[in-house]
Amino acid sequence: MTEQMNSKKDWYKEMSFYQIWVRSFADGNGDGIGDLYGVYDKLEYVKSLGVDGIWFSPIYPSPNADYGYDISDYRDIHPDFGTLDQFKKVLNRAHELGMKVIMDLVVNHTSDEHPWFKESRKGRDNPYSDYYIWRDKPNNWDSLFEGKAWEYDSNRGQYYLHIFAKKQPDLNMDNPKVRQEVKDIMRFWLDMGVDGFREDVINFISKKEGLPNGVPFLPAVNGMPYYKDGPHIHEYLGEFRKVCNEYDCFQLGEGPMTTVRSAMKYLTGPTKSLDMMFSFDHMMADCLYTEYIHRPFSLVKLKKAFTKWQIALEGKGWNALYLENHDHPRIISRYGSEHFWRESGTMLAASYIFQKGTPFIYQGQEIGMTNIRLMSIDQYVDVSSITNYYTYHLREDPERRLHRIHLSSRDSARTPMQWNGSKNAGFSQSDPWFYVNPNYKRVNVETEEKDPDSILNFYRKCLQLRKNSAALLYGRYTEHFPKDNSIYMYERSLDDESYLIICSFSRLPVKPKKPEKFWGKHGELVLCNYAQSSLEDDRGFVAHLEKEIAELEHTKGYLRPYEVRVYRYRFSDDAAESGNAL
Ligand code: NOJ
Repeated sequence: MTEQMNSKKDWYKEMSFYQIWVRSFADGNGDGIGDLYGVYDKLEYVKSLGVDGIWFSPIYPSPNADYGYDISDYRDIHPDFGTLDQFKKVLNRAHELGMKVIMDLVVNHTSDEHPWFKESRKGRDNPYSDYYIWRDKPNNWDSLFEGKAWEYDSNRGQYYLHIFAKKQPDLNMDNPKVRQEVKDIMRFWLDMGVDGFREDVINFISKKEGLPNGVPFLPAVNGMPYYKDGPHIHEYLGEFRKVCNEYDCFQLGEGPMTTVRSAMKYLTGPTKSLDMMFSFDHMMADCLYTEYIHRPFSLVKLKKAFTKWQIALEGKGWNALYLENHDHPRIISRYGSEHFWRESGTMLAASYIFQKGTPFIYQGQEIGMTNIRLMSIDQYVDVSSITNYYTYHLREDPERRLHRIHLSSRDSARTPMQWNGSKNAGFSQSDPWFYVNPNYKRVNVETEEKDPDSILNFYRKCLQLRKNSAALLYGRYTEHFPKDNSIYMYERSLDDESYLIICSFSRLPVKPKKPEKFWGKHGELVLCNYAQSSLEDDRGFVAHLEKEIAELEHTKGYLRPYEVRVYRYRFSDDAAESGNAL
């Protein structure tokens, strides 16, 4: 590609990534738990999507209080998933297939079963005493996952800080020995050949001196002003960056609640310590704080968030694009429609993959997996879902509270991957560790492989189109009609080429306007999620009627429900058409 300041280190710009949450991906040894044997067998599939890299959510030993984000050994593989040798096989094979591999680096906290913590809790005078944050008296902070942020330890006679679950004590990053440990861990994996890190809640690792009390009456996040973007964050990340700079490695930070303004300090200028950041603004178009406060989906909010980040980073930083990961419910169930499953699943793909940045696709997103609805809170396993159920909206009846969990639980993203229509969705020969979504007979890889118009094949088309177009990789982003509450329309332009991406978020036919710039110009339709066969699914007569209505509307220049169209315009071409209809 032509770009444009593409230094050697910028290889991530033209890539797209696939995120694997191993426990639910593919079970290779028949024990009901996904593992690295299963991953190995599916690497060709991952490659076939057109992605260039894999991000592994934590695969290290862990008691699973937070499914891997509570690490008890940073230099090994969880026995459920295999061995270090098996990991090396996966790594080498991924490299042979031309894919990079990045690991999750979780260093804001460890598990309370990590040897450092076991030592630290013994007393105040051993080499690990200061590895964690201990106090005689707690402040008023809440944790994000389980009640108050402090837990009393009777061995040591003090309280330790845990911003997340009780079994996730926060490391004391002010201790240079802890930072040295982090750097050694990074080297361990980089020396093995991994290509970078996704750095968990990295903007939380430096806490304000004195740990002042937080804002009263603000549940869960009251201490955040004192542990987000803390006083030494850039200094500490600068140290980690130096290690990465010795390798051809890249760093992607997860930045909960990060603002554009603070993200710029991580992504640009002399404090640049990350290549990309996962921001959260666009994940709050139907909620606040991602999990516990729900509100109706607002397209305008979503567009505002997308555009804010696109514009702010233009020419300065680089966006990490995503709509799903292991922390969010499935996107079709949130921003799309399970009724218009294929249509909204494909439209959502195009709504973000063609923005400027590096797209991430979470396992199962590419086949349109949707939320699971379990009958009882006892069936959910995610610590934050359980806390949310028992903590918030307590005045509501249990059914209503369970409904909130259906809408918000991270468990919906963690059901076993649906490979085919056979027993257990082809995920495992044994009973899977968690519930399979009952829709697996319809929503699965095998069925979608055979259907040229499937969500799966649409993801492939999007990734291929993006990869082969300088304008879609590096072109400037412009949004049109930001106030329209049915259509998201954006443009990517480089030199004399423009792509116009028009996404309908409506269940009803809607008529898009054409931006003035394109009046009188003929655009070539390069991608659309409605093909002749696309409504001939198993919804029988209803589908037939929908098809008729949709086609009728189409002829009048309407977009059909959840339709997306991508047009390419070349401004050097003489080809012109009259009028301003699309
Ligand atoms: C962010 C991770 O993505 C999430 O899964 C985890 O629970 C928290 N950080 C704590 O590690």
